[in-house]
Amino acid sequence: MTDKSAQPRVLIFDTTLRDGEQSPGATMTHDEKLEIAALLDEMGVDIIEAGFPIASEGDFAAVSEIAKNAKNATICGLARANFKDIDRCWEAVKHAKSPRIHTFIGTSPLHRAIPNLDMDQMAERIHETVTHARNLCDNVQWSPMDATRTEPDYLCRVVEIAIKAGATTINIPDTVGYTYPRESAKIIQMLLERVPGADQIIFATHCHNDLGMATANALAAVEAGARQIECTINGLGERAGNTALEEVVMALRVRNDILPFRTGIDTTKIMNISRRVSQVSGFPVQFNKAIVGKNAFLHESGIHQDGVLKNVETFEIMRPEDIGLQAKNIAMGKHSGRAALRAKLRELGYDLADNQLNDVFVRFKALADRKKEIYDDDLLALMADHAANT
Ligand code: KIV
Ligand code: ZN
Repeated sequence: MTDKSAQPRVLIFDTTLRDGEQSPGATMTHDEKLEIAALLDEMGVDIIEAGFPIASEGDFAAVSEIAKNAKNATICGLARANFKDIDRCWEAVKHAKSPRIHTFIGTSPLHRAIPNLDMDQMAERIHETVTHARNLCDNVQWSPMDATRTEPDYLCRVVEIAIKAGATTINIPDTVGYTYPRESAKIIQMLLERVPGADQIIFATHCHNDLGMATANALAAVEAGARQIECTINGLGERAGNTALEEVVMALRVRNDILPFRTGIDTTKIMNISRRVSQVSGFPVQFNKAIVGKNAFLHESGIHQDGVLKNVETFEIMRPEDIGLQAKNIAMGKHSGRAALRAKLRELGYDLADNQLNDVFVRFKALADRKKEIYDDDLLALMADHAANT
């Protein structure tokens, strides 16, 4: 048995309430945000990015209240690279036992063109704003937005400036979900090798899922030395979303043999918070979503059902209970076989002889051809019919 307590700890930074809420249509009410923050705190999230305080009075109020209520988590607010944003952010997060200011600016050529700053002017802005944030708060995170499309030399230069100005966490955002695992790892490795002071701070990885690689990119960054993963519940977030918390946390748990890192997350709380975030954001979870999808632990085909009935590990790499889901892994449908039908009927209180089972099986298949999903009530009706006709 591996001694996990000796493994390096990866901090989980949840941004469901900030980047997740930026997803068009995912706005949450004040009370819903407080409820989700409490669930995140309870499940062991290390840092909760509670909002963008300057964005609205509502965001300011929610971040302040979350900061006051937090029991264990660090509470972080987002601020652009100007004093007004940073001051407003501090006013909201300062109530927390452990507050953090997260300030950012776009450093890639495309993003530098927006405020029309040249490389030197931007470097100066980073120095001033990180220094200002650090004068307010001991815990400052800085992000070069669109880092993965920023020139490597310039990225090293601005990260060094931010560290010298007092940033304690440097986050490397793949803002448009453009990178891929080997490159994600190489960027962290390069920063650790080339930037003076890099060994004194924590590197974070913040990935978007535009090419479906957010989880892989985040884990590759961790292998290269990142020690904070930024993520959201259900992968909620702009466009195709952010790295999904449940995916990285379960990957680190299930593949701990090759990813020997630990988190502080109580994984049995995953299913409940996934459902609540889906309800309050109005974003349904796709049926085949990894970990939390309705079908993630369900088997309909006869071969798979027979396998899991004999040994659940034949087709399951984690246990539903590990994410707080009651074990219910057999879905009855037209692909189901006799073994699954027998097991299901036993669960419902019927122990049939082989010839009886054959008869019910024929009726079951006929029904399953007409109906997408077969529920317990359908099977009970089938049994009533069987009893009346034999
Ligand atoms: O994706 C991104 O670049 C962000 C930053 C604000 C960190 O969300
Ligand atoms: Zn983002």
